[in-house]
Amino acid sequence: MAQKIVIASGKGGVGKSSLTVGLCRALHARGRRVLAVDCDLGLRSLDLLFQAGDALVCDWGDVVRGTCDPVRACVDAGGISLLAAPLSESADFTPERMRGMIAQYDDAFDYILIDAPAGVVGEFALAAAMADRALVVATADGVCLRSAGRAAETLRELGVADRRLVLNRFHRAAVEHSFLVNVDDAIDRVGVQLIGVVPEDPEVTFRLPKGEGLPKKSPAKLAWERIAARLDGENVPLRLRSF
Ligand SMILES: Nc1ncnc2c1ncn2[C@@H]1O[C@H](COP(=O)(O)OP(=O)(O)OP(=O)(O)O)[C@@H](O)[C@H]1O
Ligand SMILES: [Mg+2]
Repeated sequence: MAQKIVIASGKGGVGKSSLTVGLCRALHARGRRVLAVDCDLGLRSLDLLFQAGDALVCDWGDVVRGTCDPVRACVDAGGISLLAAPLSESADFTPERMRGMIAQYDDAFDYILIDAPAGVVGEFALAAAMADRALVVATADGVCLRSAGRAAETLRELGVADRRLVLNRFHRAAVEHSFLVNVDDAIDRVGVQLIGVVPEDPEVTFRLPKGEGLPKKSPAKLAWERIAARLDGENVPLRLRSF
């Protein structure tokens, strides 16, 4: 049975989709069968980040409605399967139907990573309905941490008890100059345990939109690999001093 993990944040633009792509690739490199589900209705991005848009014939909306075969709806993105989001909302999409739709992929994958939309209302509940675990992504600033705390609480209310924090775009010098809060403070503000810290890394911005992977030793790639190992049950110590 697949582990179904929603990547959420509350505030937009903090790195959910980038983390989803990075973790999918890191889990795939570990030999896991990975399905990426874009749940950002109307604003999907994973098809672009994986450069798989041209191969799309349908999306999960068609699977929910039963008008597209679940296997045919997935496109290959370098060994990772991608299920794209519909381009518009519909009354057909309910939490119950999302659970039924995703259950059809349970046996074919080890991991299903669900890229949630920004915000904590509307389609956020559809993304949460599919998941049994959550990664809450935040940058270490007050506005983002407060919305991440709200997202973590909303996920709990929606029945996702297993939640972990990912601090993204972390920059030690920015903490030292008080532009960002420190890691302990960030954890306290969001109220869930930390699973990883991804440093600020320009390679993410330069390479991901072109569908490229990151260089082997790039700091974000190494951080994604460590988070993937922790998701996979490995005991990988946090290396906060290296940022
Ligand atoms: N670790 C990082 N280092 C540097 N830039 C990053 C990092 N993570 C994400 N970014 C950049 O931040 C921007 C927003 O990232 P992304 O689209 O993944 O966020 P998002 O949370 O999915 O946004 P949305 O809420 O709009 O879906 C992008 O330009 C991306 O390249
Ligand atoms: Mg996104």
